[in-house]
Amino acid sequence: MLLLSIETTCDETAVAVTENGRHVRTDQIFSQADLHAVYGGVVPEIASRSHVEVISLLADRAVAAAGISKSQLEGVAVSYAPGLIGAVLVGVNFAKSAALALGVPLIPVHHIRGHIAANYIAFPELEPPFLCLAISGGNTLLVDVRGYTDMRILGQTLDDAAGECFDKTARVLGLPYPGGAPIDRLAQSGRDDAYALPHPVAGDNPYDMSFSGLKTAVINLAHHAKQTGTPLDMPGLAASLCRTVSEMLVGRTMAASRALGYGKIAVAGGVAANSRIRRDFAQAAEAAGDRLFVPPLNLCGDNAAMIGCQGYYEFLAGNTAGPDLNAYASRPI
Ligand code: KG4
Repeated sequence: MLLLSIETTCDETAVAVTENGRHVRTDQIFSQADLHAVYGGVVPEIASRSHVEVISLLADRAVAAAGISKSQLEGVAVSYAPGLIGAVLVGVNFAKSAALALGVPLIPVHHIRGHIAANYIAFPELEPPFLCLAISGGNTLLVDVRGYTDMRILGQTLDDAAGECFDKTARVLGLPYPGGAPIDRLAQSGRDDAYALPHPVAGDNPYDMSFSGLKTAVINLAHHAKQTGTPLDMPGLAASLCRTVSEMLVGRTMAASRALGYGKIAVAGGVAANSRIRRDFAQAAEAAGDRLFVPPLNLCGDNAAMIGCQGYYEFLAGNTAGPDLNAYASRPI
């Protein structure tokens, strides 16, 4: 089944053509990162406008790169939630029009389900059930993936996402946006015990997380250093932050894995690109005897191939939508 898939939930406009879920014919991505960099974060209005400007072009390019004609497409999958509402609306409206014009089913895909599905593309042998930690710029959650379209949230952040913690601290430290990768690079030359950072505990659910206290602690450290003229050990701070975030994520994930007993752990989302987190997961999974699935870097961040992949399984489960499909800023997985 050939699907056209659309992703516009944040600052990447992406269109892919996938075949029977896991085979990617083409994955076209236009990143807006440069447009937002000067502001130090995503400006929703600019994001929406840029999606409008490039989406038709990108869709034409995707069909050409896939080596097919539009009439061969058998469905249109779209990320309909969660995300910046104006940005999501652009993708949803484009997908509705395309599905109507082509006379094919419209398939709504939850963005986080898409991130999880990136693992199906990278690992053809992976099948549910498994445990997945989804860590991105806007979401951080531990998911029991019982089936392709049957998921249960075990725990989640009660405030900021892990990516937000990296992005906001990076901005205060004068690093470019998005800040996760620059912090990761800086951390390579730093000592991870240079600063003692807090490990906030979040409520009664042992799988819930909290990152806003950690973010505030790093920002306060930076402000204090500036006010007192004390030099900051930037690589050390970056390494200490990566270590703390990693410990918070890996500890909870391994505890959930023991409780579930699937023996299979997947990690997904932009923050899964972090080298410290990847290394710590590799060590922890090996020690526990669990199989670990972490997608390559190009499938960690936002892309449309993952939406096409999950869209295939949503279609098989009968999850299609009519022209009244709406976009949502937040929506349960
Ligand atoms: O999945 P994604 O592309 O977009 C969302 O769906 O949110 O994730 C973007 C997030 C940003 O917060 C970015 O700073 C973070 O992923 N990120 C990283 C790294 N590369 C990207 N965070 C930590 N280490 C990295 N190497």
